[in-house]
Amino acid sequence: MKRETMIVAHRGASGEAPENTVEAVLRGWEEGADAAEIDVHLTRDGEVVVIHDATLLRTTGRDARVDALTLAEIRKLDAGIWKGAAWRGVRVPTLADVLATVPEGKRIFIELKEADGLVPALARTVEASALKPEQVVLIGFAAAALGEAKRVMKTCRTLLLADTPEGAEERRAALIALCVKEGFDGLGVSAGWPIDRGLVERLAGEGLELNVWTVNDPVRAKALVAAGVATITTDRPGWLRGKLAAKVKD
Ligand code: G3P
Ligand code: CA
Repeated sequence: MKRETMIVAHRGASGEAPENTVEAVLRGWEEGADAAEIDVHLTRDGEVVVIHDATLLRTTGRDARVDALTLAEIRKLDAGIWKGAAWRGVRVPTLADVLATVPEGKRIFIELKEADGLVPALARTVEASALKPEQVVLIGFAAAALGEAKRVMKTCRTLLLADTPEGAEERRAALIALCVKEGFDGLGVSAGWPIDRGLVERLAGEGLELNVWTVNDPVRAKALVAAGVATITTDRPGWLRGKLAAKVKD
């Protein structure tokens, strides 16, 4: 039976709210996203926080690495003002803060942005949350870190991320073989990849699913749905769902 393509809010609904904040993730749920994607790093005192970059500069204005400050220091920073005055006072959330927002039946994609020491802290936080294992999807570019996460958090799904496919077929084949070898559940690839039903079926033949990020173009999204990809990650989940539902041409 053909499964419907699910919509994942990239860094929360980051088109409309400051990325990787509770506010952005809540906005994603309000817009009807099936899942939210977030990025995680460790603080100096070993807490898992939700932020994309290894430094705080772009989203809080503080010129420091995340792992150089404690959670208490990071919580004083403003992670919303860069997106607009309406978001003044929004904070960098902990992973626990974000997990607490995930409704029944929805999923959270957690991207591991670093390796050292992250997996045990991540596992403890997920374990302490109210989420069911099937609601948590672990994603990452580094196969070693993702493999470690898979070994520790056996019941969570894992997707190996890949950017542009240099070497095209050779690279695709190598990534598929790596997923099979490591027991990952699928691939998450950038929207620039050549994707058609043949690729989706080839992956399915290996028991793998396909996620595509970051898709903010409705025409591309429609083609991906037609190809049968499992999930599409977008900055504007509600808007994109509306475009996908519309019968009229874009
Ligand atoms: O979902 C994967 C995607 O988020 C990877 O790119 O840079 O937005 O973390 P980035
Ligand atoms: Ca990400």
